[in-house]
Amino acid sequence: MTLALVTGPSRGIGRATALALAERGVDLVLMGRQSAELAETAELCAAKVQVSIEHCDLADRAALGAACSHVLTQGTPDVIISNAAVIERRSVELTSLDAWDHQLAVNLRAPFQIARAFLPAMRARKSGRILSVGSISSTLGCANAAAYAASKWGLTGFTKSLAEELSGSGVIALVVLPGSVDTEMLAGSGFEPRMGADDVARTLCHYALDAPLAHNGSVIEMFGV
Ligand SMILES: NC(=O)c1ccc[n+]([C@@H]2O[C@H](COP(=O)([O-])OP(=O)(O)OC[C@H]3O[C@@H](n4cnc5c(N)ncnc54)[C@H](OP(=O)(O)O)[C@@H]3O)[C@@H](O)[C@H]2O)c1
Repeated sequence: MTLALVTGPSRGIGRATALALAERGVDLVLMGRQSAELAETAELCAAKVQVSIEHCDLADRAALGAACSHVLTQGTPDVIISNAAVIERRSVELTSLDAWDHQLAVNLRAPFQIARAFLPAMRARKSGRILSVGSISSTLGCANAAAYAASKWGLTGFTKSLAEELSGSGVIALVVLPGSVDTEMLAGSGFEPRMGADDVARTLCHYALDAPLAHNGSVIEMFGV
């Protein structure tokens, strides 16, 4: 059986991805803050596959470390999908240092911390796929979202660097960069949706389960229609 860990599965792309993986028979570790929405995702997926929940605020490095250690006591995920993120839409002058730190912690440090936690076991097994959800905003500038855009540029840089380290190991890392997706995060942004959460979920499933390992280091841009 394949086991995938998905962060931020309470709604949006994370929920769609968890459901798509469950459709493919993939067992799941759902990692996120406690909420009725997260419990609902788990319930929907549990109709198809084995599901466990790891409650954790990804900005809390101690809690995230403990959650990863707990997952490892039960098994090593074959697939990691670091999807959770947060955006605070403000100009640079109005972005507080705390808001900067929070967005960098959730969007960039957490994917690094998660990859770091599972890499030794994946390397030992000579297999594993570490996927992250970045953003098209990491290919250009993004007014009123500098911290978010910086975190996503960082995520691409981290992923490509990790991929270099992983070359020939059997473990791969890649990042998917969606454009405007019809989710809660897009609401109020002024951008029109150009794809649905399912489009991103299907793409993530492809790279998690089917795509050749030769995609190590790939940056998959999704502009929408
Ligand atoms: N929507 C778009 O247009 C778009 C475009 C490009 C890239 N993306 C990327 O796609 C990914 C998913 O976004 P989405 O549109 O599905 O957003 P969303 O609907 O706002 O969902 C965000 C998810 O992240 C979780 N999360 C946020 N802060 C967290 C924290 N501190 N600890 C744990 N979980 C946390 C949320 O959980 P809670 O329920 O606990 O809040 C939620 O499950 C993100 O990486 C985003 O940057 C989205």
